[in-house]
Amino acid sequence: MREPLIVKNSGYVELKLIRDNRDGNLVILEALRDVPFELKRLYYITNLENSVSIRGQHAHKQLEQVIFCIQGSFTLGLDDGQNHQKILMNKVNVGIKLGKMLWHTMEDFSNGCVLLVVASDYYSEEDYIRNYDDFIQLAHQ
Ligand code: TYD
Repeated sequence: MREPLIVKNSGYVELKLIRDNRDGNLVILEALRDVPFELKRLYYITNLENSVSIRGQHAHKQLEQVIFCIQGSFTLGLDDGQNHQKILMNKVNVGIKLGKMLWHTMEDFSNGCVLLVVASDYYSEEDYIRNYDDFIQLAHQ
């Protein structure tokens, strides 16, 4: 049973998973079909063996992303300025949309955890809101 998402600008993205038994799993993502945007960028995060690691802690003004945990598990914190919640990410084919103005934090990484993120645009530091007070002010406008 999936925890309902109460924050704005989010949602689950479930990808097709083909289980090949002893030959492993195949997971497929198609732009504009599985995710609501054209992919301009993909990045992945590895070497998260430290359970005190923390990533994210920012929001984006325009960028849309979908985050997956393709190995292991971690906790995704989501905050839209009004509601916040924590989601356990531990399914290889179930991602979460990180829409505009959604403060997100990734922590509690398992050993060998690997994150995969697909993004709607190229990297731009100007699109980041890295200060939480600034985020709250903008979110309440
Ligand atoms: P950041 O997005 O803050 O990482 P996370 O959300 O995973 O904690 O990015 C960390 C650093 O990497 C920052 O200096 C910007 C740089 N970076 C790029 O140059 N290009 C990218 O596509 C991304 C995602 C980050």
